[in-house]
Amino acid sequence: MDSIDPDFEGRVLVVANRLPMTIKPKDDGEFEYSISSGGLVAGMKGLAKVVDFKWFGWPGIDIHRNDKDKVRLHLADNFNAVPIFLSKDLAEKHYNGFSNSILWPLLHRMPEKAGLETDWSKAYQEVNEIFADNILPHAEDSDMIWVHDYHLLLLPGILRDRLKKKKNLKIGFFLHTPFPTEDYFTILPFREEICKSLLLCDVVGFHTNQYAKDFLDSARIVLPGVARSPVDLHWAGQRVLVHDFPLGIESDEWREKLETETAQTELASIQQQFKGQKILLGVDRLDYIKGIPQKLLAFDRFLTEHPEWVGKVVLIQLAIPTRADVDAYRVLREEVEQLVGRVNGRHATFKYTPVHYLYRSIKPELLSALYAAADVCVISSVRDGLNLVSYEFAACQEKKKGVLMMSNYVGAMRTLPTSSMVVFNPWDTPRFAERINQALNMGEEEREKRYKEIMKVVDTWTSAKWGKNFLETMMKGEIPKNVGMPD
Ligand code: ADP
Ligand code: G6P
Repeated sequence: MDSIDPDFEGRVLVVANRLPMTIKPKDDGEFEYSISSGGLVAGMKGLAKVVDFKWFGWPGIDIHRNDKDKVRLHLADNFNAVPIFLSKDLAEKHYNGFSNSILWPLLHRMPEKAGLETDWSKAYQEVNEIFADNILPHAEDSDMIWVHDYHLLLLPGILRDRLKKKKNLKIGFFLHTPFPTEDYFTILPFREEICKSLLLCDVVGFHTNQYAKDFLDSARIVLPGVARSPVDLHWAGQRVLVHDFPLGIESDEWREKLETETAQTELASIQQQFKGQKILLGVDRLDYIKGIPQKLLAFDRFLTEHPEWVGKVVLIQLAIPTRADVDAYRVLREEVEQLVGRVNGRHATFKYTPVHYLYRSIKPELLSALYAAADVCVISSVRDGLNLVSYEFAACQEKKKGVLMMSNYVGAMRTLPTSSMVVFNPWDTPRFAERINQALNMGEEEREKRYKEIMKVVDTWTSAKWGKNFLETMMKGEIPKNVGMPD
């Protein structure tokens, strides 16, 4: 993939709440740095292939003032990243509070999971201001500032206001979650401020065309006087381009990872352990949007309805720890762990454990081996912005050509060819169970045909392409041809 337009003379500043690495204090007073999980961080890998950029974000923990310089230096030297330090109290209210207890559930149309607003919105505003304070000294004429995700919805507006004097400075925003329909969006505190802030961008991007349309509709309802065309919004003398820019993965990198000795050893050991059994695989952050309970219920039902499969199929469910301080996530963990116990209690024998549940983060090589060993990958989200796991599974299935099961409510339903997946409604347990049966019984020829169709998209719509398309749209001020998926 080429780098972005060679005429571009400025620099790219990426701003996201999450930095690419997670920092943990060690006993010896030093810090351990490991790769952060989640689609946002994974997606940015491709961006690094097309442009050098500086990454601004919160380090995820409260760092003592004596250690701040050490962390700052390490991040600058090793990751070209700039940490934005927040006090524990402020980060708690911004991250666990407003971002993950109000915005996240509402953006996923799940108001029942939202917490009741306390003083979180003040903290949210304050953190967006602090981010702006930290970025201002770095911003120069002709720079492109690319803000990511729901933690920083007010930031584009603040930056535009404070950087008025910079010449040809561009601001873009990309939302990594779904954008809801206006009946959910209008529940949000700050909905007007959010729309005004996004209207001060040059480009606002979403994973799918539907999310872009829903944003265009919401903005018109929330801000009277907004004029819209299919691709832009005009309001009070401003114009912002709004479009879908589907994220993807670097599929070559997954294939290379799978070829490493570590991954091959892991693969051989998984294959040995589950010899004679089919593997259904789930890889999800332990988030209520991922539909993990629904998956367990359907698997339970499937084993009950199809006793011929008992002993012959396992579900490996990787649950990556996430946002463990938020109540709704704690409740979910209990629910999932009870269900795992129930399904295993009902169908296990001394020789057979139907569900293998791992609540932990694993190394990418082991993940690639799991993807390669699986026969079916089950994406059962009840809402999901895009879902990169589905792409990663496909990229590691060159040999096996396994089946991708996809819930109706996932962004990837609009990017991957529907006819190549086994599609289901995660709420409809009996039919979901039958879909599992269909997936497990699919013949080789059919799997091969579907696999090829999926890989055409996965290999073409990479994260590098996503980054290049977005930045070039920002640079040129118009939507180039073929940047989004065909309708
Ligand atoms: P979400 O963004 O909601 O977490 P996605 O499916 O889009 O969902 O992305 C999840 C990403 O997290 C994938 O790229 C996956 O490879 C990555 N991931 C999963 N486990 C780990 C891990 N242990 N460490 C780092 N990244 C991980
Ligand atoms: C989703 C969000 C990202 C977030 C990621 C992991 O992909 O869109 O913004 O970084 O989940 O969640 P976390 O709360 O750990 O950053």
